[in-house]
Amino acid sequence: MSEKIQIAVVGATGLVGRELLSVLAAEGIRPEQVTALASERSVGAEVEFGEETLEVEQATAESFRGMGLALFATPPEVARALAPRAQQAGAWVVDPSAAFRADAAVPLVEPALNLAALEAPFSGRIVALASPVAGAWSTVLFALASAFGCRLARVSALLSVSQAGARGISELEGQVRALLGGKEAEQGPFPHRVGFNLIPQVGSFELGADRTSEERTWNTEIDRLLGDRAPAHGGTAIQAPTFFGHVLSAAVQLSRPAGAEEVRTALRSRPGVKVLDEPAERIYPMPMLVTGDPAVHVGRIRVTPGAPDWVELVAAFDNVHRAAFGAVAAGLRLARRG
Ligand SMILES: NC(=O)c1ccc[n+]([C@@H]2O[C@H](COP(=O)([O-])OP(=O)(O)OC[C@H]3O[C@@H](n4cnc5c(N)ncnc54)[C@H](OP(=O)(O)O)[C@@H]3O)[C@@H](O)[C@H]2O)c1
Repeated sequence: MSEKIQIAVVGATGLVGRELLSVLAAEGIRPEQVTALASERSVGAEVEFGEETLEVEQATAESFRGMGLALFATPPEVARALAPRAQQAGAWVVDPSAAFRADAAVPLVEPALNLAALEAPFSGRIVALASPVAGAWSTVLFALASAFGCRLARVSALLSVSQAGARGISELEGQVRALLGGKEAEQGPFPHRVGFNLIPQVGSFELGADRTSEERTWNTEIDRLLGDRAPAHGGTAIQAPTFFGHVLSAAVQLSRPAGAEEVRTALRSRPGVKVLDEPAERIYPMPMLVTGDPAVHVGRIRVTPGAPDWVELVAAFDNVHRAAFGAVAAGLRLARRG
């Protein structure tokens, strides 16, 4: 990346924003300037960028003058308001929120799959990052679809509370402390108490809908990312009482029968996928193993008894790190376009 570029990290005090700064520093990216932006509440707060400490400024429509790249990590309504202003100022924008994912004019990126698409011409300067589950699940499905073809895919996704940002972390922490101390647990952003519970609702139900907003976005995004390789797809999102790392438990109907070893080989051949599959040795994907790894870990691979064209598997990935790593990878590609 050009040493001359100025980068704005918008939402720098949040989970993804802090991780963005950490990935930029770890990748050795030394831009002319990095500006940490957040809401009015955080003005004067400090965040780390490698060895440096940055003072947080308020994100406004005027914040983007001179910026070459704006990496967003804010709620979607903030991205909807400010990303067009960054674009107008001439910056490339990478947004990991739900603000632009369904907009056909905005490229949808899962860095393990389609980073090269950012080199083709497109209108505007805003790029949306696929949601954590849709991006990771599409990465696995792409490997299976390329090797065998996929007809049908079903997934149960167990999402850690970090999917709800810093408030999700503090809610689970507060509830666990309260409940272990024999006190009433306060309830925040989740639809029910999450401490010592599992909730089969992530996102909202529109009136009369049988799928949540989280589950519906998987279909839109998988179709966008995989095109005619996308299988028919269904799934359930479950809120888990863990802090970081999401888990997928899935079954896929392939277009032809395949053995478990063939499936492992197909998965191993894809960038962004790691196979951890020696269950007798207690080696399989788990949230505690994915911290700071942008790869999707896949294991527990087996053929469904009596259904030789069905494969079952488990996957785990670091939702926060993947978002930050992906945004930086996309941002670097865009910055090289100038
Ligand atoms: N967490 C994940 O696993 C994950 C993964 C992929 C994508 N995402 C998406 O990434 C975005 C950020 O997620 P997160 O988990 O980092 O959330 P978070 O921890 O709640 O952080 C939100 C950030 O947005 C800032 N913000 C809020 N209102 C603002 C405003 N009016 N102007 C400027 N900044 C504002 C906050 O600043 P203050 O501290 O000043 O309030 C904070 O820095 C969300 O859209 C989320 O859906 C999250």
